[in-house]
Amino acid sequence: IFKMFTKPVLAGVNVIVTAGGTKEALDPVRFIGNNSSGKMGIAMANVAADMGAHVTLISTVHDYLNSPNIDEIQVNTAVEMKESLEKVFPKNDVLIMAAAVSDFRPMHKSTQKIKKDADKDLYTIQLQKNPDILKEISKKKDKQFVVGFAAETENLIPYAKKKLYEKNVDMILANDVSKAGSGFNVDTNEITLIRRDKEPETWPLMSKNDIAAKFWEYYDEHIK
Ligand code: CTP
Ligand code: CA
Repeated sequence: IFKMFTKPVLAGVNVIVTAGGTKEALDPVRFIGNNSSGKMGIAMANVAADMGAHVTLISTVHDYLNSPNIDEIQVNTAVEMKESLEKVFPKNDVLIMAAAVSDFRPMHKSTQKIKKDADKDLYTIQLQKNPDILKEISKKKDKQFVVGFAAETENLIPYAKKKLYEKNVDMILANDVSKAGSGFNVDTNEITLIRRDKEPETWPLMSKNDIAAKFWEYYDEHIK
């Protein structure tokens, strides 16, 4: 889709990107999911690969991928995503946790399609909390630079800062999903970059590809 970098400034850098919303199965044909398109994560993967990085993409979506430098691992659930991530994490330098991980999963997965009952109008699904993948993987952090996202509808900066510290990550890319053109299932986003001991930096509304390019330029300049 684009090729804007001539110099492979990220050559030798091994990156993991998680992308898309997890799908938590209820039965063989149904799942609990969310509105994430996976576009932010896919853009992060495409741009990093374009700049010469090797990318492992752990994803529930695979549309719009455009680089031979990307190895894909397809997953559905949060638990599968966590297991795949744990396997590849030690060999990598950067983790971009762009996936919209479902906070909950159905407690039981029915082996057969759940049938509706002629006499019953009200149904209950018991939910169990999913592991916090980012928080757990950060405990195994060694050399890795770990980036999380924060989707908020209020108190953007305080809530995102809380995630930065509680999940022990190096950076949070925060976005206010209540704003038009921001967040889920759109091509644009308005990001505030948050790091420890640094002033938050709010970037103007731009395309997810431009955000990915700006992020990797920032990484190349300040972190690498
Ligand atoms: N995340 C994760 N595992 C989860 C939930 C979230 O790894 N079970 C990651 C997301 O991929 C994101 C970051 O944590 O990078 C923040 O996700 P978000 O949903 O904004 O925050 P939560 O910690 O889930 O808190 P809440 O939804 O209650 O605001
Ligand atoms: Ca959440």
